[in-house]
Amino acid sequence: MFDRTTLGAWFRRGLVGAGLVCLAAACDDHIVGSAVPIGTGCTRDPPLTYENFGKGILDRHCDGCHSDFIRENQRGGAPLDVNLNKWEYVLQWADQIQVDAVDKLTMPPTGMMIPLERQMLGEWLRCDVLPQKGEVQGTTGGGSS
Ligand code: HEC
Repeated sequence: MFDRTTLGAWFRRGLVGAGLVCLAAACDDHIVGSAVPIGTGCTRDPPLTYENFGKGILDRHCDGCHSDFIRENQRGGAPLDVNLNKWEYVLQWADQIQVDAVDKLTMPPTGMMIPLERQMLGEWLRCDVLPQKGEVQGTTGGGSS
């Protein structure tokens, strides 16, 4: 499930990080000056998408085990029906990706993701993936069912 307190902390950290970047890069006011943290308001411009973010991070951290190109005995024990190497699979598993890789940090099992990656993964799911599933952003509290 979605833990607003934890997520809020991640997003605030994300905002601090973005602020530092912006100091150097002269960002637009609507990004830096907004009272709404980037992760919460989905104001990142350009937004995170499957093409510019999601596919890459899943390939790097998940698809070594969760791909239908990986043979059964090389999946590190990942269930045969849990694949993340295509957009349709991402839509199917979006809520569980949120739980495992953003909220509970149980995936990847080796833990090799830095907090910023997890925070951006959460932002992408909430601002891009879940809305495309028809789950309106920010209102479901994560688990929609
Ligand atoms: C080293 C192999 C490996 C990697 C890398 C890996 N997983 Fe997994 N994954 C597993 C195994 C094993 C299971 C089944 C055991 C379990 O659920 O804990 C699993 C289960 C899952 C499930 C199904 C859990 C459920 O509750 O049904 C999801 C979703 C998932 N992983 C997402 C991810 C995501 C997202 C990443 C990358 C951020 C990732 N995994 C990286 C091995 C891996």
